[in-house]
Amino acid sequence: MTASPESDALLPTYQRAPITIVAGEGCEVIDDRGRRYLDFLAGIAVCALGHAHPAIAAAVAEQARTLVHVSNLYHHEPAGTLARELVARSGLRGAFFCNSGTEANEAAIKLARKRAHRRGEIGRTTILACTGSFHGRTLGALAATANLTYKEGFAPLPGGFAFTAFNDVSALDAAIGDHVAAFIVEPVQGESGVHVADRAFLAAACRLCEERGALLIFDEIQCGMGRLGKLFAFEVFGVKPDIVTLAKALANGLPIGALLAGERAVGGFMPGDHGTTFGGSPVPCAAALAHLRVRDELDLDSRVRLRSEQLFAGLGQLSATFADVFDAPRGVGLLIGLPVRAPYAADAIRDAARERGLLIGTAGGNAVRFAPPLVISEKNVLQALALMEAAVLSIQKR
Ligand SMILES: Cc1ncc(COP(=O)(O)O)c(C=O)c1O
Repeated sequence: MTASPESDALLPTYQRAPITIVAGEGCEVIDDRGRRYLDFLAGIAVCALGHAHPAIAAAVAEQARTLVHVSNLYHHEPAGTLARELVARSGLRGAFFCNSGTEANEAAIKLARKRAHRRGEIGRTTILACTGSFHGRTLGALAATANLTYKEGFAPLPGGFAFTAFNDVSALDAAIGDHVAAFIVEPVQGESGVHVADRAFLAAACRLCEERGALLIFDEIQCGMGRLGKLFAFEVFGVKPDIVTLAKALANGLPIGALLAGERAVGGFMPGDHGTTFGGSPVPCAAALAHLRVRDELDLDSRVRLRSEQLFAGLGQLSATFADVFDAPRGVGLLIGLPVRAPYAADAIRDAARERGLLIGTAGGNAVRFAPPLVISEKNVLQALALMEAAVLSIQKR
């Protein structure tokens, strides 16, 4: 199949699949030939309430009719209300809004350094991150990303970044010295293959950061906003970080990023320290507020736990049936990775699933990734499992 003409003029930063999506409806998207696909990736962990949700559409339309843009030189109601909602729900102290995940992490890196500087700790500049991490594509967030393939050809990256082994408490103990401004970690590493942090590792990170004057940043850009079965991933792990970064699902598809700062971090930024033209614009903030409202109405956390159990059980069965193709599934809530065994390739399974009407993703280390809308039904899960089985059978025959 040839590439869609719509993409001819786009720089080839993505290897796009050969379909053109024209609409979305609930947990499905529809291509230009009218074919429907069950979307078990939800963008990439973005459309938590599914596509074209009426409450999101109404909030966007209403806000677009009222006020699309106002600079951050003035107050406006949607950003103020969203900040208050997120602060109240997280128990943290303040919010900064931007437009994407990578920008939220840039803000966190800058805040951690500025806080240390403001306290007179001039040598406290290092941002410590984990092996396997992914924090975004802008230069600072990229410097905090472990995977070298994302960094190749972009040197020189900003200095002052170091790495410690994911889930290794004694390595972390050795790495957090008084030169460390912050330790940044994903409670569940999505891009590197869906690897879950140990509760003890995150608890140790919290203790060590506090004892040694560093900030603890949880990058919840992929695993937050209800995906793990609670609004914030930190609630699932029982560990309170100093900073949480959010994006992806926050406004159910409209571009927004957020940094939430707790007691130890909240004084890091003063007027003029950081800024953005579009960050916290009225329309994405209105969409995020509608998202929070619908979450509450649906009791989404209970639904996520039920569908997670069902999907884990089904994928467990699939991996047992096709033990030559898969290892056991891993993850939390509705962020699940299914490791693929060589010589089979996750890419080929993803493509075979798409050809059968199921959209899934891949992740590092040869795994397929499931991050469906959080509103999926029992029937959707059964459909996805049947389509996965058909996809695997077709691969085995080749
Ligand atoms: C954990 C994590 N951090 C940061 C990012 C970057 O977010 P964005 O693509 O919105 O810049 C991503 C995106 O996949 C992510 O998964």
